[in-house]
Amino acid sequence: MPAHASSRHAPARIGVLASGGGSNLQAILEYFREHPGVADVVLVASNKAEAGALDRARAAGIAADVVSPADGAAMRALFDAHRVDLVVLAGYLKLLPAAVTRAWHGRVLNVHPALLPSFGGPGMYGRRVHAAVIASGALVSGATVHFVDELYDRGPIAAQETVAVIPGDTPETLAARVLALEHHLYPRVIADVATGRIRLADDGHVVGALIGTASL
Ligand code: GRF
Repeated sequence: MPAHASSRHAPARIGVLASGGGSNLQAILEYFREHPGVADVVLVASNKAEAGALDRARAAGIAADVVSPADGAAMRALFDAHRVDLVVLAGYLKLLPAAVTRAWHGRVLNVHPALLPSFGGPGMYGRRVHAAVIASGALVSGATVHFVDELYDRGPIAAQETVAVIPGDTPETLAARVLALEHHLYPRVIADVATGRIRLADDGHVVGALIGTASL
């Protein structure tokens, strides 16, 4: 945990990384606005200057910055400058540098639009994920929130929630249902990690993981 990690009662300081439109960012901002005192988004950073997520951040009065995805030292310095406790990936399409995953070990989360460890890994994002789920014949899909390590989509799972794959589903219809699920699930999991109710134990297992919004 970074040395500046806040005392137990101060709201956790969240840094969000996003590459795209940022609908998950928006859901996170709304959740913490409605649940004050748990966590505050203090920084939104993107590898793309034109990312919609940066516009959403500026509209909300939050610091917005462009980062070079491979420059771990610069990214770490940026998060340090904003005293970030928890790093939240929300549609961030680049691998996180080891300098960041190490410094924020157990304090980095990602959301993936399928039930990991299936349908994840390099190149599995967006429409491709849902097309692969439908092609597989799986009857359920869902959203996964996991702790992030140096590999794509492989860190310990903090929460999963399912949706049915409906006959006649297209990648677009399935994507829309899963995205709505993400908007509900992700902020709650972030809140639980921020308060320590969900945590990554020293042995690499997750304590307090959620199925949907029910506790295990
Ligand atoms: C979401 O489906 C998320 O699971 C994936 O990227 C998408 C981001 O969407 N990692 P948005 O930018 O939050 O709208």
